[in-house]
Amino acid sequence: MKPLIIANWKMNPQTLEEAKALFNAVKNTKAIICPPFVYLSDLRASGAQDCFYEEKGAYTGEVSPLMLKNMGIKYVIIGHSERRKYFRETNEIIEKKLKAALKMGLKPILCIDKTSQISPDIKRNLIIAYEPLFAIGTGKACSLERAKKMRLAIRKVVGSKTLILYGGSVNSQNARGYLAQAGFQGLLVGGASLKSKEFIDIIKRTCYAE
Ligand code: PGA
Repeated sequence: MKPLIIANWKMNPQTLEEAKALFNAVKNTKAIICPPFVYLSDLRASGAQDCFYEEKGAYTGEVSPLMLKNMGIKYVIIGHSERRKYFRETNEIIEKKLKAALKMGLKPILCIDKTSQISPDIKRNLIIAYEPLFAIGTGKACSLERAKKMRLAIRKVVGSKTLILYGGSVNSQNARGYLAQAGFQGLLVGGASLKSKEFIDIIKRTCYAE
């Protein structure tokens, strides 16, 4: 099976023109691109970076899983460490978001850095992204041994059917190791997904490598 590669653009780029240029440069890779909400409809992207847990109503500034579903979004990142840190999202909030996204038929990508962040109630139909905090946006990628150990620990909790991805300072040089040596089934790529050449290189070295 080909690995699942997810691009998390975070709060980038700053104009629709740049977003279109980046999207057009990488769209043939079949990676799941998760741009900021404001660009979703123009780009017809298939992934989002977050969603709220209610379907509709008086929740100023929020975007519901139903809205995402209605726009053709298939994947949604939930519980990213930046959401936990800057927006104080707790495991309880994240669990509500996961349930709401699943109810809508979206495929949630739950980001964790420890297995205790996986709710015993919801283990099915999720994709798990192991993202060690020290590796996110720092250029200090996790060692393959440590990543593999965590993958095995996560596997014990979630069972055999759940896809497990690695995220944290992935680049074209280290990407393949997480799949070939550490045994992950895909990657969640932040910074490197904003540079089209680097991102395409990641895809070439993972999805099309011999
Ligand atoms: P990074 O981000 O690749 O820039 O480390 C990964 C992420 O936060 O999902």
